Amino acid sequence: MIRVFLFVGISIFLSSCKKDLIDIPYNPTPYEVNAEETENLGILPIPKTNELTEEGIRLGQHIFFDPVLSSTGTMSCSSCHLPELAFTDGKALSVGVQGEQTSRSSMTLVNAAYYTQGLFWDGRSEKLEDQALLPVEDDIELDHSWEEVVEDLKSHPEYPTMFRKAFGIEDSEEITKELTARALGQFQRIILSGNSKYDRWKKDIGVLTDEELLGFETFFDVNPLLKDGECGHCHNEPLFTSNQYFDNGLQEANTIDDYGDIGRAVVTNKESDYGKMRAPSLRNIALTAPYMHDGRFETLEEVVEHYNSGGHPTPNRDPLVHELNLTEDQKVGLVAFMKTLTDTSYLENPFLENPFE
Ligand code: HEC
Ligand code: HEC
Repeated sequence: MIRVFLFVGISIFLSSCKKDLIDIPYNPTPYEVNAEETENLGILPIPKTNELTEEGIRLGQHIFFDPVLSSTGTMSCSSCHLPELAFTDGKALSVGVQGEQTSRSSMTLVNAAYYTQGLFWDGRSEKLEDQALLPVEDDIELDHSWEEVVEDLKSHPEYPTMFRKAFGIEDSEEITKELTARALGQFQRIILSGNSKYDRWKKDIGVLTDEELLGFETFFDVNPLLKDGECGHCHNEPLFTSNQYFDNGLQEANTIDDYGDIGRAVVTNKESDYGKMRAPSLRNIALTAPYMHDGRFETLEEVVEHYNSGGHPTPNRDPLVHELNLTEDQKVGLVAFMKTLTDTSYLENPFLENPFE
């Protein structure tokens, strides 16, 4: 009996010795979002299970830009989500570590906190914390294994300390993929953009040109004398998206079996969801060419031409997508208006810079 006690006692003693991080203070600082950054976007949705702290965001920032996540050590999240391109990659289809193309175009991470009706073009991921787990083990994207990534993080000279400061772990062995994903979630929630030329104009700061105004009126159907653009129904304020799923007549599908990318139906399995994608936000759209889930359009002019023509009469095409008969001036105006939606002030946030440069 005494031996058993001794054994248990020694084991407890040994395991408590293993707490290699316990001497590092854990005292996280809440991250204050600047009120100006969200005043035109609405209350920033933050899950109770992953509150923002400076230490958590710093950790996420390092992981986001660190090629440690890829099997080849050559790619990071930022390879396909470049800050200067509103966190997209400028390619029609993204290219992964082995040089293979992914099946879809990269998406902006700007205002990602507000995309609360599902992430990815088809909405198959519910939260940023779930999404962040996927690229690492995606064969085409980072093609690595979490087990190995977590081992690398545990034996890294700096990450264990950063995990301690962010999440209060007491030992490097407590680093997990879930904590890594939480840090990435925090980092992405502070990429905010809501103070564009358009937002300032609405507050009577600055003016829009005649072209931009004509585009605004066409976009939101505000002038009964003009042909409707219908855009604002799906790309509505403040995010310039309703976060809902639509088929905007892109794919040449005559029956539901013809959709090359079934989109939302992957999640719901409903015939009425074939070919539907989440309407993307149009904030910073001038920076995120090429456009659509497959990057098929290189310019905003081509996008406007698509909507003006009404696209293909696919089985699930939304009734708002139809021949518009816009004038040349209206088309030019729509493009000019979309270019007023740019606000890259997030590039000045030191928490969003590449920490390795
Ligand atoms: C090889 C390029 C590539 C890499 C690397 C990559 N992504 Fe992406 N990302 C994409 C593509 C492509 C999509 C759209 C995929 C889809 O809809 O199926 C996407 C979508 C997303 C979305 C959804 C955005 C939205 O509006 O719904 C988030 C969030 C995201 N990525 C974050 C990350 C994070 C975090 C990492 C690193 C762990 C990462 N990505 C690594 C290419 C990449
Ligand atoms: C019925 C809803 C709907 C209407 C109306 C609509 N859109 Fe869209 N929009 C979408 C959807 C859905 C997508 C993504 C489709 C895809 O990639 O398969 C999209 C994509 C876009 C894109 C590309 C975004 C990106 O990140 O690649 C632009 C630009 C755009 N729309 C502008 C407009 C303009 C301008 C109008 C009005 C002329 C308009 N939209 C009308 C739903 C709509």
